[in-house]
Amino acid sequence: MSETQIPPHAERVSQARSPAQAPAQGREQVVDHTAGPGAAAPSEWFKHMFDALPHDVDIYEVGPRDGLQNEKTVLPVETKLAMIESLVDAGIRRIEITSFVNPRWIPALADHMEVATRLRRREGVRYSALVPNMRGLDSATRAGMDEIAIFMAASETHNRKNINKSTHKALETYTEVVREARDRGMAVRGYLSCVYGCPYEDQVPYENVEYVSKALVDLGVYELSLGDTIGVGTPRQVAGILQGLLGAGLSYDQLAVHFHDTRGTALANTTVALQLGIRTIDSSLGGLGGCPYAPGASGNVATEDVVYLLNGMGIRSGVELDRLPAISVEIGAKLGRELPSKYTKAYVGACAKQGVQV
Ligand code: HMG
Ligand code: MG
Repeated sequence: MSETQIPPHAERVSQARSPAQAPAQGREQVVDHTAGPGAAAPSEWFKHMFDALPHDVDIYEVGPRDGLQNEKTVLPVETKLAMIESLVDAGIRRIEITSFVNPRWIPALADHMEVATRLRRREGVRYSALVPNMRGLDSATRAGMDEIAIFMAASETHNRKNINKSTHKALETYTEVVREARDRGMAVRGYLSCVYGCPYEDQVPYENVEYVSKALVDLGVYELSLGDTIGVGTPRQVAGILQGLLGAGLSYDQLAVHFHDTRGTALANTTVALQLGIRTIDSSLGGLGGCPYAPGASGNVATEDVVYLLNGMGIRSGVELDRLPAISVEIGAKLGRELPSKYTKAYVGACAKQGVQV
């Protein structure tokens, strides 16, 4: 494996910063903690631990898609449109609005055509939607999408359960979809699910992750989002996998991270990804989310929790943090439950103390 690349915006990164670890093979891997950078030279490590942090990041908002796809309460189109518009008002500039998948598989997004055609597009905002096959691409084209996202897993069983295809067949299908989408002038993003573990196969060998990642990038996706679909990843594993992929030739600009917070590790994982120089973070308003074909999967990391983290670390996202809780509370009320975002809980509590309603 070649030397991990230095993030372009952080030339001063020291050797001591890089975790000396091969890609993690799974959750039960025995880790040699004495090999960590802190153990070797704590003072050097502390000096440099934030050197690679980006100055700016893109938040890629998945609330209207990943967030709503698994909800039993199907929100009316007007509510979805208002949610998307409010998020854009708050400064979100990349947003996944729906999925052009079989509505029998994902009933909560069966209104994909109406959402996409009725949405008022704003200058400077990139709107995207999931597409699983040529039929989905044709629908996305009719709906006026100029960006789509294809998706598959590093696990064979998850691919069969989620998109009814083998890994091989999915890559074959997407070869045509990506070629055709690009010919139609669309940008194509890619998702790789089950990077840190699979609900059906448990551990996913790193080799599978690297193989499918490279294959998707070779097809022409401009960015690959690495999904912790069932929220099992931990920071050392994140560092290992990112370093593995960067060492295998993928670049910082091609990688995004997508953490579900099922076991409470999503913000820790996000921090490590930032420390390694990753500049696109997927998140979902209020922590909504979950894949219906990943039993036990719960919400994505909450957008407001990520923005709070970024603000505290001096990283710009362009999102106005204090506009998010009101949107979260409203969508939660429409779904009949409080959304899991910690920032919104704290914000609502602080407002209540002052007698202010969010
Ligand atoms: P299939 O049943 O194998 O499709 O589904 P098929 O080609 O055999 O066709 C069967 C029927 O589906 C036909 O209808 C097609 O027309 C229809 P019929 O003739 O029986 O009436 N069909 C479609 N209808 C609308 N739009 C389409 C479409 N394609 C076929 N695009 C398919 C294959 C992929 C479509 C199906 O498995 C599906 O829709 N899966 C949805 C999976 C999904 O959306 N999962 C959640 C998103 S993934 C995720 O959440 C993870 C992620 O967040 C990252 C992470 O967290 O790791 C991205
Ligand atoms: Mg997801």
